[in-house]
Amino acid sequence: MFLLAIETSCDETSAAVLDGEARVLSNIVLSQDEVHAPYGGVVPELASRQHLKAIDPVVRESLTAAGVPLGSIDVFAVTQGPGLIGSLLVGVSFAKGLAYVHGKPLIGVDHVQAHIEGAFLEHPATPLPALALIVSGGHTSLFLLKQRLSFERLGRTRDDAAGEALDKIAKFLDLGYPGGPVIQRLAESGDPEAFEFALPRMTDRSLDFSFSGLKTAALRHIRENGITRDHTRLADFLASFEAAVVRALIENLGRAAEQAEPRSLILCGGVARNTRLRARFEETARASGLLWAIPSGKLCTDNAAMVGALALAKIRAGVLVPPALELDAYPRNPAGA
Ligand code: KG4
Ligand code: ZN
Repeated sequence: MFLLAIETSCDETSAAVLDGEARVLSNIVLSQDEVHAPYGGVVPELASRQHLKAIDPVVRESLTAAGVPLGSIDVFAVTQGPGLIGSLLVGVSFAKGLAYVHGKPLIGVDHVQAHIEGAFLEHPATPLPALALIVSGGHTSLFLLKQRLSFERLGRTRDDAAGEALDKIAKFLDLGYPGGPVIQRLAESGDPEAFEFALPRMTDRSLDFSFSGLKTAALRHIRENGITRDHTRLADFLASFEAAVVRALIENLGRAAEQAEPRSLILCGGVARNTRLRARFEETARASGLLWAIPSGKLCTDNAAMVGALALAKIRAGVLVPPALELDAYPRNPAGA
């Protein structure tokens, strides 16, 4: 059994081929970073046009790299949402066309759930219940998985996503795009305690996140200290800001773990590539006596292998697949993500 998965929800065009055992035979990711870099953030219309150009070569390359001809694909999978609607529609339309022409089923999957399911590709024995922290440019949420495919959201961001906050501060200082990896690199030599950041507190004791306060505090430090990209204290400032974002994430994770009493912790999403976050996450898991799963870098950022993983899990669970041509894209979850 071979499955072809497609992901175009934001600014990565990706296609992957998986076999029935969830072995990833290929996972091609074409990033649009260079297209959006001059603007310091994703420009939705440019993203859709770029997906249109890239989708056919990326799908072809994934088939070639896997050594599986298109005619041998038994089932197709695609990200339905949440994401940029123009971007999503490119992947959904392309996948519908393939499924229709080849008379094969098409499985629509949720992008956030795919990030979480993707963690099981490399760590299939991760015990349940698992508490998953998904941190990306578009999402910052906590989910409890009592069973596979059951995603109970315990908390989400009320304003910016963590990656978005990193990207915005990097943009403000003209450091480059995407901001997360640039900040990580520049912060390496800095002192994470040089600048003070008060952690956000939810007055209602909920497990929601908020990053707008940290962003405002960062802008105040920048203004008061005259921080620029050439400033001698730039590394200290970035290290302190990055550490504050990580602290906010880990504190909520710790509280959620106390409440939900999971057996394992999962970290996923683009910001899960961050070394400081990975280290703190592992420390938290160890200190709580829990097992943990963090995907390797390539499976953290948007990719189609995770989409394929979720589609396979749905097939195994016998989830009913509607006819391919009925599939639609959705920009956001009804309950938010
Ligand atoms: O999951 P992803 O590829 O796309 C979304 O679904 O949003 O995540 C992209 C986000 C961006 O905000 C980027 O700055 C951040 O992940 N990111 C990082 C690192 N690598 C990517 N943030 C911090 N440290 C990194 N090393
Ligand atoms: Zn993502």
